[in-house]
This record gives sequence, structure tokens and C-alpha cells, in this order.
Amino acid sequence: MNTRKLEGKWALVTGSSRGIGQQIAMGLAQYGCNVILHGRTMAHTEKTRQMLAGFDVRIHAVAGDLGTEDGIQSVITEVQHFPGYADILYNNAAIQSEWKPIFEFSMEDWLKSFQVNLFAMICFCNAFVPGMAERGYGRVINLTSGIADQPNLSPYSVTKAAVDKYSRDLAFAVKENNVLVNYLDPGWLRTDLGGPNAWEAVETVLPGALVPALLDDNGPTGRLYAAQDYKVLGQGIT
Ligand SMILES: NC(=O)c1ccc[n+]([C@@H]2O[C@H](COP(=O)([O-])OP(=O)(O)OC[C@H]3O[C@@H](n4cnc5c(N)ncnc54)[C@H](OP(=O)(O)O)[C@@H]3O)[C@@H](O)[C@H]2O)c1
Repeated sequence: MNTRKLEGKWALVTGSSRGIGQQIAMGLAQYGCNVILHGRTMAHTEKTRQMLAGFDVRIHAVAGDLGTEDGIQSVITEVQHFPGYADILYNNAAIQSEWKPIFEFSMEDWLKSFQVNLFAMICFCNAFVPGMAERGYGRVINLTSGIADQPNLSPYSVTKAAVDKYSRDLAFAVKENNVLVNYLDPGWLRTDLGGPNAWEAVETVLPGALVPALLDDNGPTGRLYAAQDYKVLGQGIT
């Protein structure tokens, strides 16, 4: 594997203030990739920024609540201001819906999940993927989930099914432009979202989460990648 292929590129990792996004940001930095951090507030990104301080890469941070159109737009505007584009886009930020019987979710519950987990992702793809296509290089990785048979989390799991379908449609749209669009199942990991009983430590998302970013030009697109398929026992980036 060419370990230098991400050097000098810019990756936007939404939701990189903690959890899986933070690991992905560290993994990218280890490959020499410049990283645009994101959280709901700038202060939330500070810890990840400190964790990346030892890497020889450029770090930029943007903020915005993806539950609001203004928040999404401010992320887009800030990235357009600097660095102006993204070569790699990890649509990682998401929220999990409340645990309750499937019939009790209100339209507001459904809309909230779709807003953060799907519509924000679509807005970021609309903002940054056409530029990737024009430049003839792009890697888009949308975080999905292997969640199954959990009707009490239906708004969350339905958004993830939509993420898979959207990713395949987008992949087809830009497949001639060396923009590879894939979706990543990180596994069930101990994060704020995954909870303390999850099967795996958050560090096990690496190195697998980087595989779709490291694909060769005109490589696989529209595919599901499972980070746990690449798990190296005892290995994580600390
Ligand atoms: N953990 C698991 O077991 C698991 C399993 C399958 C899939 N996934 C997927 O992996 C991704 C990351 O999950 P995680 O476990 O790392 O979650 P997490 O620990 O809860 O972190 C969520 C991240 O998303 C950001 N975020 C949440 N709501 C936001 C909003 N309204 N606007 C902007 N940013 C927001 C958070 O930013 P702030 O810090 O600013 O709040 C944080 O950086 C998600 O797409 C999730 O669905 C996780």
C-alpha cells in the first residue's frame, strides 16, 4: 500500500470532536493528511486538535449544529473559506434516536434523525463532491451501521439504510470521475453513542476506517466496508 497517497490532501471529518470521528482524524493525520475537524461548537474540537498536535499535518476546525440549516451552511461556508475544498469527506456525525416502541416516535423524532444523519450528509456531498469530480479525485466515506432488528431505535436505523442507498446512488453519479463513494460500518464500539456495553473499543475502528480513503484511483465504489474486518488485535492509534 502506498502510505504517502494522502499526504497534503484535505479531509473533512464531521463529528471528529470525539468517538469514531476522532479516531478517523488521528488515522488520517498519521498518513500525512491535513484534517478539517468538526463539532457542534469550536470548543468541542479542541481536544482532538490537541491530540493531533504531534502530527506533521495542517489542522483546521469548523463548527455547526447539523440539526439546523444554518449550522450545516456555516460548516460549508467555513470550509469554502479555508481550505476551499475537501479531497476526502467522512460524513461521520450522527445522533441516535431515543429508545422507545416504534409506534411512539413522533414526526419530530423522525425528522430530527433524518436531518442530522442524512440531510446534512447530502448537503455536504452537494457542496464538496462536484469539486472533487472536477479535479478528478475524491473519496467520500459515509458512516452507516450494522444495526438490525432494533425497532426501538427505528429512526436511527432507517436513516442508516437511507445512507447506504444514497451512497450507492452518489457513487454511480461520479464513478467516471475517480470519486469513490463508499459506506463504512464501524462495528459496535464503546463511544457516547455506542454506549459502555458495546463489543469493541473505539480504537478498533482503525485501521479499517481508513481503507476506503486509501483506495487506489478508480477503485471500488458504492460498496460497504466493515472496519472490524481489518481489526488488528491490540492495535489502535493512541
Ligand atoms: N459507536 C457505535 O457503536 C456505532 C455503530 C455503528 C455506527 N456508528 C456510527 O458512527 C458515527 C460516529 O458515532 P460515534 O459512536 O463516534 O458517536 P459519538 O461518540 O456520539 O460522537 C458523535 C459525533 O457527532 C457529532 N454530532 C452529534 N450531533 C451533532 C449535531 N447535531 N451537529 C453536529 N455534530 C454532531 C458530535 O459532536 P459534538 O461533540 O460537538 O457533540 C460528535 O463529534 C455515527 O455516524 C454513528 O451512527 C457508531
